Order: sequence, then C-alpha cells, then structure tokens
Amino acid sequence: MKVDVLLGLQWGDEGKGKVVDVLTPRYDVVARFQGGPNAGHTLEFEGQKYVLRSIPSGIFQGDKVNIIGNGVVLDPALFKSEAEALEASGHPLKERLHISKKAHLILPTHRVLDAAYEAAKGASKVGTTGKGIGPTYTDKVSRNGLRVGDILHGFDEKYAAAKARHEKILQSLNYSYDITEAEKQWMEGIEYLRQFHLVDSEHEINRLLNEGKSVLCEGAQGTMLDVDFGSYPFVTSSNTICAGACTGLGLAPNRIGEVYGIMKAYCTRVGAGPFPTELFDETGKTIRDLGHEYGAVTGRERRCGWVDLVALRYAIMVNGVTQLILMKSDVLDAFPIVKACVAYKVNGEEIDYFPYDITEGVEPVYVEMPGWQTDMTKMTSEDEFPEEFNAYISFLEDQLGTPIKIVSVGPDREQTIERYTE
Ligand code: GDP
Ligand code: IMO
Ligand code: MG
Repeated sequence: MKVDVLLGLQWGDEGKGKVVDVLTPRYDVVARFQGGPNAGHTLEFEGQKYVLRSIPSGIFQGDKVNIIGNGVVLDPALFKSEAEALEASGHPLKERLHISKKAHLILPTHRVLDAAYEAAKGASKVGTTGKGIGPTYTDKVSRNGLRVGDILHGFDEKYAAAKARHEKILQSLNYSYDITEAEKQWMEGIEYLRQFHLVDSEHEINRLLNEGKSVLCEGAQGTMLDVDFGSYPFVTSSNTICAGACTGLGLAPNRIGEVYGIMKAYCTRVGAGPFPTELFDETGKTIRDLGHEYGAVTGRERRCGWVDLVALRYAIMVNGVTQLILMKSDVLDAFPIVKACVAYKVNGEEIDYFPYDITEGVEPVYVEMPGWQTDMTKMTSEDEFPEEFNAYISFLEDQLGTPIKIVSVGPDREQTIERYTE
C-alpha cells in the first residue's frame, strides 16, 4: 500500500485539521510526521469545536490508529492537557494513539531558550509560537536531544544533563526565568506519557502498510515555513514538505501515493517575515474579520493578502502535489472582485518563478476576476456553483497545473464539497 500525504502549501493554517478529519473515514491510520504544539488544527462538527496541537486530526473518526511519528517534537505537559481534555469530552485515546519512541521531547528550558533567542534577535525576531520548537530541533540535530524512549531508561540523569546544558546557555545570555511550575507540570506530563503505547513507529507503519492498511499523513505548518524551502530565516525548524513524511515516519519515498496540497482562496501568515501579497488596507482587514484570521494557538492576528500563485506553483513543485484542496473560498463570497498574484516584478523585471529571496523589492502582478457574490456556505454539490466561481477555479487549476478536488465552504465537517473531475 501507498501512503497519502496532506500538507499546507502556504504559511500554515490552511485548514489541514478540518480536511484530515473529513478524509479519515477512508483510511485506517492517520499519522503526524513533523512539527509539534506550534500547530493548531481546528475541527468543527456537531456544533463542537476542537483545536489539536500534537494529536493527529484522525482521532475523532471511529477506531482509527493515530500515530505521532519520530519527526514530531512533543511537550509532555501540553500533550497531557490536550489529551485529558479530549478524554473528558468523550474521546478516549489511550488505545488508539501510538507515540514514537524516537520523537524528541520539548523540555521546559527549550521554551525558555525559544524566548531568550527571540529576545536576543530584537527587531529581527521570527515571531515564533514560543513553544520551544527551534531549540528542540536544534538539540536533535546537534545530538543533544532527549527522546520519548528515554523516559523508559535512565531518564533522570539524561534530563538533568540536558537541563544543565540549557542553564549554562541561558546564563551566558543573561536571561532570567523561573521554570518551577512549568517543570512540575512537565514531570506530571512525563508520568502521563507512560500510559500510552510508546512504539517503534517506523516498524509499525511499515507493517500496517504491508498488511494492506491505508495511511494518511498529516502535515503541520506549511511549505512556505519549511526550514529549507520556506522564507528562511522566517520559518519553522522542520521539513514541512512531503519529504518530511518519509523522514518523520520512516517511510521510503516510493511509498508516497497521493499528495493533497491545501490552500486558502487567499493567503495568511502569522509572525514576522516576507509576504509579497500582504494587504494593509480595508480589504486585508475584511478578509481577517470574515475569515476569523486569528491564531488557533496564540490568538495573534494573522496577516492577510491575496492568493499568491507564484509561491503556490513552487510549493506544488517541491511537494509533488497531485490534488489541490481549496479552503475558505466562502470568505470571498461577497467580494465583487477577487485578485490572484500570477507573477512577481523584481527590479522592474517580471518573473513567474519563486526567487531565492522575497525579502525586498518583490511586487506582485495581479489578475482580477469578477467575484461570484453568492453565499456558498450551504452548498453541498458542485452543481450549485455559480458560473463566476467555476471560472475562478478553472483559472486556478490552469495556473497551477493541478486539479482542485475538494472545495471547503465553511469550517464545519459538512461544509465540504468533492468535485467529480477526474
Ligand atoms: P490548520 O492549522 O491548517 O489546521 O488550520 P487552522 O485550524 O489553524 O485554521 C483554519 C481556520 O479556518 C479554522 O478556524 C477552521 O475552523 C476554519 N476553516 C477551515 N475551513 C474553512 C472554510 O472552508 N471556511 C471557513 N470560513 N473557515 C474554515
Ligand atoms: P499550523 O500547523 C501558522 C510560524 C510562527 C513563526 C514561525 C516559527 O497550525 O498550520 P515556531 O514556533 O515554529 O518556531 O515559529 O512559524 N508557525 C505557524 N504559522 N501555522 C502554524 O501551524 C505554525 N507553526 C509555526 O508563527 O512565524
Ligand atoms: Mg493552525
């Protein structure tokens, strides 16, 4: 069997959680492969709203196996509060959620380091989620990290050594902090983690595939936040692209089947960094208000702008996207005109490829299209799509060279329309 991968093509928050939940009934297994509690994946169904950070979005659809892969970084304290809230709301996890022993642990001091490094950067700070993501991946790559499997053998010494290392760094940065309460919660989180299936997830996932089981891999963040291909250094610290599913789960590249690329009908970004199509006017504000564009984790205002087809073509290329999923087009339902950036102007020259640096001097070239000016939020079939909307999606498919298979017209599970197109 192959695995299908679902991932964000923009700067995150495209609606990955919603669509993973919608697609889960077609799969036996859902697996997260990178990122950590910097993610906030929102799901809405039956009048309830849930925000998942570390737990895969397949957890609500029956008895599926959900895996947290080795590429994920896990904060035991946040994991405990997330898991306990789910259990309390009638969604038992312990039997269904398997956690890789090779996933790295976010320590309380990693969070402090995240804050200290941001403070040291001053005006050029990344605007991280403050969850310790960068320092944890740094320790992983520099071979200083603590893994989930370490809680099973000699944990106390390993923890003390890692903490002492961090304390030295923080001292050298002259950064004052108090982790007494955070450390207490973290240790409770470690004890809680012991109740779960801590597994060699690379063996498990390959065995399940060999048994004919189907797997959906759930990305976090988005391609433009990828540490290699995103708008570096304003990125996260993991590979958010499709290849991350291979390294983050122990899957061979020839296991990859469909690659679902998720995009909003416009574009958003949280935190600092370049954003060529950002709108600073009333239109940007309208998109933010209508799209409720505030961070699921931090509550921060999301920056809003028109859809950027140059960046999307790049994202489709590096991920090998086979199908597109168009989210939140309903936010533009009332707009008389919608715009899409089809090229950039750099130093007066028009280019249609994504350049090395988008920090300065990149001016978007827009195409304008008539809006559909129809409330689409109650539509259930593409037969109901207004003519202007059909023209809009044909335009996007043509520009992006990839079919749009699903259109999402609202946050609820039910507000999802599958197109017939082959
Ligand atoms: P994720 O991180 O990619 O899972 O996305 P987030 O959950 O951070 O952000 C997406 C937001 O848009 C959430 O509040 C969703 O409930 C909401 N949402 C998802 N799809 C749609 C849609 O088609 N229309 C509207 N209006 N909201 C949507
Ligand atoms: P989901 O999975 C949007 C952004 C942060 C910051 C940068 C680095 O919900 O789409 P980090 O804490 O990862 O070191 O922050 O990345 N960022 C996200 N933006 N959605 C996310 O996740 C994000 N995760 C991180 O705002 O700019
Ligand atoms: Mg999110």
